[in-house]
Amino acid sequence: MISCIVKTKIKVFLVFVIALMVSFGAYAQGASEQAEVSQKGVVPGATEGATAAASTGGLPVDDVAIVDAGESLFKNNCAVCHSSGSDVIVGPGLQGVNERRSNDWLHRWIKNSQAVISSGDPQAVAIYNEYNKQAMPSFAFNDEEITSILTYIKASESAATAVPTTVGSDEAQAPGTNVGEGAIGAVGGYLDIVLVVLILVLIVLVVTLLLITSLLKNYLNSNRKLNEYDNEVINQRFDFSKIYKSKAVRTLVVLIFIVVLLDLSLDKVMGIGIQQGYQPRQPIAFSHKLHAGEHQINCNYCHTTVYKSKSASIPSANICMNCHSQIKKESPEIQKIYRALERNKPIEWVRIHNLPDLAYFNHSQHTQVGGIECQTCHGPIQEMDVVYQYSPLTMGWCINCHRETPLNTEGNAYYDKLVELHDATSKGAFTVSSNGGTECSKCHY
Ligand code: HEC
Ligand code: HEC
Ligand code: HEC
Ligand code: HEC
Ligand code: HEC
Ligand code: HEC
Repeated sequence: MISCIVKTKIKVFLVFVIALMVSFGAYAQGASEQAEVSQKGVVPGATEGATAAASTGGLPVDDVAIVDAGESLFKNNCAVCHSSGSDVIVGPGLQGVNERRSNDWLHRWIKNSQAVISSGDPQAVAIYNEYNKQAMPSFAFNDEEITSILTYIKASESAATAVPTTVGSDEAQAPGTNVGEGAIGAVGGYLDIVLVVLILVLIVLVVTLLLITSLLKNYLNSNRKLNEYDNEVINQRFDFSKIYKSKAVRTLVVLIFIVVLLDLSLDKVMGIGIQQGYQPRQPIAFSHKLHAGEHQINCNYCHTTVYKSKSASIPSANICMNCHSQIKKESPEIQKIYRALERNKPIEWVRIHNLPDLAYFNHSQHTQVGGIECQTCHGPIQEMDVVYQYSPLTMGWCINCHRETPLNTEGNAYYDKLVELHDATSKGAFTVSSNGGTECSKCHY
């Protein structure tokens, strides 16, 4: 009788432990998936915030917003050729340029240096000759933007010598760091702590239970008159062969085996035609990590049509030459660009992403209108030396996102009536699919 109670208790306890472990495993997995999802959407070198307030007279080096805007403009447009210190890259280091030149001269120069040179300005002609008549590109910036760049240069001078006023802005600019990531770190750390605590609690539970059983055993052995059967059960050793021989356990093992096997083979079958992870060798060792990451060149500097048309376009060799007519001329990899141009043949980049012809996908619809970051679909491109296909590009992938993503209808009169109708008839956000984004004909023609 008593033995029965002890037995069931142990069984219940075992089931409890297993259930805890299973549910915890599922929880941890869910959490890591969530972390992965929110890690997407990193913004490299964004130029937002560039419209800083105009300054009157001297440069507003104390205005953090202007300095930050200037820093982002500088890194995106000037840093490939200029340092803000005294090092010469392609052009001169810009340290002290606000003292060397007048404000008006700087504005004219940055907007169109060739015009200043051909006007015969002696300072302009001198520096042009000093740097072997290399033409600096023109920039269609307004006065505020130029002021912010000059302020940034000025501020980084005083930062180098005196109080570091721009500390932290560097971090904010680094590619791959955004607010989300910090949050993930915190959640991850929190989960780890919970896990450790739970494991500790489990260990304590097991130890207490063992203690209780041994106490009970001793008590029963010494104080009770037991019949033969109870005596045997109480002093029974833990027997693995019994578990192994038990029918229930065997069926369970076989079942788990079958499920795993089925899952694996289904994954394989469903994966036919999916190129996720495809990472071919390219004819030139071009690195996005170097260009889009370290040098923060905007994606659409090279993929020029990505905000305007269906295709993102792969840059022609001419775009490379904007910089490489001056940078790293002797590198054998860069020589390959020159050879392609001499022979008047395009560089034969190997295509990575490729939807079947039966599906219609439009970049401008997603990037310009939908406002989706490249990284949501292409992953952390700015960290890839060699690009690989990050997303599965399956129909399920497209449709899932259309179901989940709310449309930005704010201030868009086109949507007003539609949103009204939607809100009247159904609950939930006005997503891409509420607007018909899961209708076959939207993607198949
Ligand atoms: C493709 C390379 C390149 C880029 C990009 C570039 N510059 Fe220049 N810059 C030069 C060169 C080269 C010179 C030297 C004069 C010359 O040869 O025209 C120069 C000269 C200057 C000068 C004059 C320096 C002095 O000592 O008088 C300023 C100021 C300047 N650049 C600012 C900028 C700013 C601001 C940007 C970004 C908005 C920028 N440059 C982007 C190549 C570049
Ligand atoms: C300096 C020019 C340049 C910049 C800047 C640049 N790319 Fe590229 N990109 C290329 C070239 C060249 C290729 C083709 C070679 C390769 O795949 O590496 C390419 C290929 C790609 C591909 C794969 C295309 C395919 O074949 O399917 C993707 C996706 C891509 N870029 C996204 C981006 C994103 C996102 C950014 C901004 C974070 C970016 N690129 C910035 C030049 C550039
Ligand atoms: C806006 C300027 C810019 C453009 C456009 C550009 N690059 Fe670069 N590229 C750079 C800079 C800066 C470096 C780094 C040079 C260094 O490390 O000193 C570089 C480095 C490289 C290197 C490494 C060279 C070596 O031997 O270390 C390769 C290869 C390269 N670029 C290929 C390309 C190709 C191909 C294109 C056109 C699709 C391109 N680049 C367009 C600025 C540019
Ligand atoms: C909603 C997902 C999504 C977003 C956002 C997105 N892309 Fe793409 N990209 C794709 C798909 C899908 C393809 C394959 C298109 C095809 O084969 O027709 C692709 C292909 C490309 C290619 C190969 C050339 C081409 O046009 O087929 C480049 C380069 C590229 N993307 C760059 C970018 C850049 C740069 C951005 C951000 C400005 C971006 N993409 C944003 C999904 C996306
Ligand atoms: C990361 C989310 C995301 C993914 C992935 C995605 N889309 Fe979209 N898609 C959007 C959003 C957001 C819009 C709505 C843009 C707008 O009109 O504001 C949209 C709109 C569209 C539209 C226009 C729908 C309409 O109602 O006019 C088509 C067509 C489309 N997507 C095709 C695709 C295809 C094909 C794929 C897969 C290769 C894909 N999308 C993957 C988010 C996504
Ligand atoms: C958001 C865009 C989108 C919508 C909406 C959509 N599809 Fe697709 N569909 C795709 C893409 C992208 C592929 C290619 C996926 C691949 O190659 O794995 C595809 C592939 C298919 C294929 C497989 C073709 C093959 O050769 O394997 C069929 C069949 C199909 N779609 C039918 C439909 C039907 C029916 C609907 C309406 C209920 C629909 N699709 C709605 C994007 C879409």
